[in-house]
Amino acid sequence: MTFPFRYKKLGYVALNVTDLDRSVAFYRDLVGLDVTENVAGKLSFLRCSRDHHNIVLCKASEPGVKRIAFELESEADLAAARAHLSGLGLEVREVAEDERRALRQRQALRFVVPPCGATVELYCGMMYMAAPFSRRLANIERLGHVVLAVERLDETLGWIVSNLGFRVSDVVEGFAAFLRCHPNPFHHTLALVRTGGNHLHHVNFMVRDIDDVGRAFHRLQANQVDIVFGPGRHQPSESIFLYYLDPDGMTVEYSFGMEEFGEHGAREPRVLEPGPASLDSWGGSPASRFGKVGRIEGRRRELRDRERACRGRFADLLCPPMQLSCEEPLAEKCEW
Ligand SMILES: [Fe+2]
Repeated sequence: MTFPFRYKKLGYVALNVTDLDRSVAFYRDLVGLDVTENVAGKLSFLRCSRDHHNIVLCKASEPGVKRIAFELESEADLAAARAHLSGLGLEVREVAEDERRALRQRQALRFVVPPCGATVELYCGMMYMAAPFSRRLANIERLGHVVLAVERLDETLGWIVSNLGFRVSDVVEGFAAFLRCHPNPFHHTLALVRTGGNHLHHVNFMVRDIDDVGRAFHRLQANQVDIVFGPGRHQPSESIFLYYLDPDGMTVEYSFGMEEFGEHGAREPRVLEPGPASLDSWGGSPASRFGKVGRIEGRRRELRDRERACRGRFADLLCPPMQLSCEEPLAEKCEW
């Protein structure tokens, strides 16, 4: 099957954090990212590659994922994506010039994935930095993947595969799905886990050596970072993992090794038996805090709008089942 546009990679993730200085220090001094640029106490751009940014930290009133951005191979791919997404009836928003200038990106568009409310950005042409990533603390090779916890796994998975052209690498029956942004070769750049709500599950950085995982374990322990799972080995991707919490309680992962797929002739996705061994073939199990924190930005606004519409049309009769009140404060809006 030929899809209208081609992905290059997972480019960056924008995270909402409640204390910007504290989170910058964590991602710089413990995760090992380089800080590219700070913007007036509101934003920080960090990187683990020659890209201007792979993580954007945004000051906000509650932690969460603001958007997930994938880089496409070319401007022609972005034009094809624009036409394709508009043809689906999606609201496709062009990123304004002043924001693109601040992001050091040539072109970008955004839309919301309907079943889970996550904002996805597609872009091309991010500034290539003169200095290489420093690898001061860890040999981070790339921003690896993002995992979202979703209420409606099958629906979200079907929507992303049908409309965004992701390929399924594996599924854990009834529990998780691992997706790659074709033709990017890695087993997953996005994964979905079924839970009772829509939220961030974790953000991953892939490291070059198994020693990076071992050193991180001791570095994080020595700095009282909450390690919530691992070290262990995931059966689906065969990667060795370590999960820990950032200062807001959002889960971050280091992983070593991952199955890669050729552009053509890839194996069929497997349906893996659910159970602890699929999660960790070394026999470990996660702490209860694993993958729990990180609101999907926009989700609350969407629910509030639905509730208001409901009140407007049917008074209060139909509203009680909805869980959020109109008075509940929205996450502090950060324009970028
Ligand atoms: Fe992961």
